[in-house]
Amino acid sequence: MSAAGTQRRFDIPTTILHGGGCRRQLPALVRELGGTRVLVVTDPGVVQLGVASEIVDLLTQAGLSVAVFARVQPDPTDENIEAGVAALEACAADVIVAVGGGSPIDTAKVVAIRPANPQPLPEFMGLHKIANPGLPLIAVPTTAGTGSEATKVAVITDTARQVKMMMLSVPLLPRAAVVDYELTLSIPRGLTAAVGVDTLTHGIEAYVSRKANALTDPLALQCIALCAQHLRTAWTEPANHAAREAMMLAATLGGMAFSNSSVALVHGMSRPIGAVFHLPHGLSNAILLPTVTRFSIAAAPERYAAIARTIGCADMLSWLEDLNAALELPRLSQCRGVDRARFDPEVEKMAADALASGSPANNPRVPTAEEIVALYREAW
Ligand SMILES: NC(=O)c1ccc[n+]([C@@H]2O[C@H](COP(=O)([O-])OP(=O)(O)OC[C@H]3O[C@@H](n4cnc5c(N)ncnc54)[C@H](O)[C@@H]3O)[C@@H](O)[C@H]2O)c1
Ligand SMILES: [Fe+2]
Repeated sequence: MSAAGTQRRFDIPTTILHGGGCRRQLPALVRELGGTRVLVVTDPGVVQLGVASEIVDLLTQAGLSVAVFARVQPDPTDENIEAGVAALEACAADVIVAVGGGSPIDTAKVVAIRPANPQPLPEFMGLHKIANPGLPLIAVPTTAGTGSEATKVAVITDTARQVKMMMLSVPLLPRAAVVDYELTLSIPRGLTAAVGVDTLTHGIEAYVSRKANALTDPLALQCIALCAQHLRTAWTEPANHAAREAMMLAATLGGMAFSNSSVALVHGMSRPIGAVFHLPHGLSNAILLPTVTRFSIAAAPERYAAIARTIGCADMLSWLEDLNAALELPRLSQCRGVDRARFDPEVEKMAADALASGSPANNPRVPTAEEIVALYREAW
């Protein structure tokens, strides 16, 4: 909610192809960027779906030379980055293509800038810590989603410290995005719910953030509107093309919005849950979203009212709770692998890590460490 006279900066990829079937234009786009040797960065799940091989075939049939690095794990780590850099050096690629959800895209972003920025990875954590541009990257998302195809953000786990490092730097921005919703038709229900609420959270946090501005507001509201209209349908009818296309659009718009305003307290508190308990990112957001919204609403009533109007609901809190219930998203206490005996001793570190990430400072109501601990317990 920047004041009059504020200067704004807005970064997005140079080219975004969006729509069913647009993945077939990928080889031409690689050539447009001057590419001849491509490193495809993906993960075992995307390989198993046959999506990675479809993309590799498209590229090789167009006469491009292709190597594949498929060893990205969900919530990628510093070890994934170093293995990816070794793969890049081995094939001497001039363009990187990331195929998958946020995990392969974030990995590819950091692999692409690594040769030109050799300092220790933790130094990249925070805002604008990566100085030099890297290899051109084309992001092909298969979840809808993180919006990572359109953001200057990557989230990489520091395995030694068990911290999800949020890095925001312009060199992390993909040069291009090829956003083909047909690649999301295979997403199972649980993942549709988690990545869909991640998208919704991007829209909401980009809109209530203290860094929200006139360039990001329309994108954030449109992201929220699309999620409100289409997420439940994408979940109940996985093969509904219109709903999948709308959620893909919402994901890209949400990414463009939050990358240029910011995320806030939900994401700040979500990353430590992911780092400690390895819950999917969207699931930990969904768990926190109602609780954090209740905490924040009084600090930005007009903003939350505009969101409620966009959604078309009278009471945003019950709407969020109903959405989680309709999408069968569990509470924290119901998640496998999260038991109270592990949660209690971790909660103070989680609150400290949340604050250290900087995201809570963008929330309309900025919490203390004690308040974050209380919010974690409330979300339990
Ligand atoms: N860079 C950003 O701007 C940004 C924003 C939000 C989240 N993130 C990060 O992104 C990561 C999460 O990404 P994600 O939620 O997209 O999940 P993901 O990339 O971790 O993928 C989760 C699982 O879904 C599978 N999968 C991917 N596409 C599929 C498809 N079409 N059908 C079936 N299965 C499929 C994958 O193989 C994987 O096993 C987290 O690390 C999070 O912190 C980054
Ligand atoms: Fe997110």
